[in-house]
Amino acid sequence: MGQIKEIVRLDRLLANSGYGTRAEVKAMIHAGEVSVNGNSAPRVDDHVNLSKDRIEVCGQLLKVSIHTCYMMNKPAGYVCSSKGGPHATVFDLMEEKDRGKRLGGELSIVGRLDVDTEGLLILTTDGELNHRLTSPKYHIPKSYFVRLENPVSAEKQEQYIQAVAKGVEIPPEDHEPGALCRGGKLEWESGVTCRLTIYEGLYHEVKRIFKALGNQVVFLKRVGMNNLVLDEKLAPGEYRELSEKELSALTLTNAIL
Ligand code: URA
Repeated sequence: MGQIKEIVRLDRLLANSGYGTRAEVKAMIHAGEVSVNGNSAPRVDDHVNLSKDRIEVCGQLLKVSIHTCYMMNKPAGYVCSSKGGPHATVFDLMEEKDRGKRLGGELSIVGRLDVDTEGLLILTTDGELNHRLTSPKYHIPKSYFVRLENPVSAEKQEQYIQAVAKGVEIPPEDHEPGALCRGGKLEWESGVTCRLTIYEGLYHEVKRIFKALGNQVVFLKRVGMNNLVLDEKLAPGEYRELSEKELSALTLTNAIL
């Protein structure tokens, strides 16, 4: 993980804390809306110490959080990559001021979703958090809503549940070798729709599990990660910062072994 800088330029700090573009925060500083340790006429290029200085904006104490963590409702048709290609990337859905370099560094994607997969996508500057949520050794639950191509009878549904609980042997795909998935949890909603919770995040894991069971995924949406659930009020393509409570749901749970 990159070193966190404690001494930062005032205008950069405000812009990275969501107060507007660099030009907008400069205007706020010039208008006397920002004070540093009681000085209400700081310069835009003054440097402030994040662990010592008291910064107020319009009389409100600035609470500096070094890292940024967003929840996005990813739509189909966007790739989880910072590089362009035939498809637009999830970063193209973000405003310039949000996707740029932040106090905590560059934003990165936590656990990629396929181009045709929708739903909960986390983007954070916190590399350590990213590692804890994606490394298979921490067994973080990821839940998906799945629609299948072929209807599954009640009897077969039970077989799918047992197979998933035991751990499905998935076939090789593209450059990835076959693997034995760790046991997961499957709950049926209808003959073709179900919720699957898995604990690893292997390449195309959900699609490969159902392929191994003789079916095919026709719609896939991630709805939860750890104890965090997708905010369904976010329309596809929308994103917002996580609240403190949501951040705890994502990070501080007994799911992290
Ligand atoms: N499993 C898949 O097959 N695709 C995804 O996008 C996520 C999990």
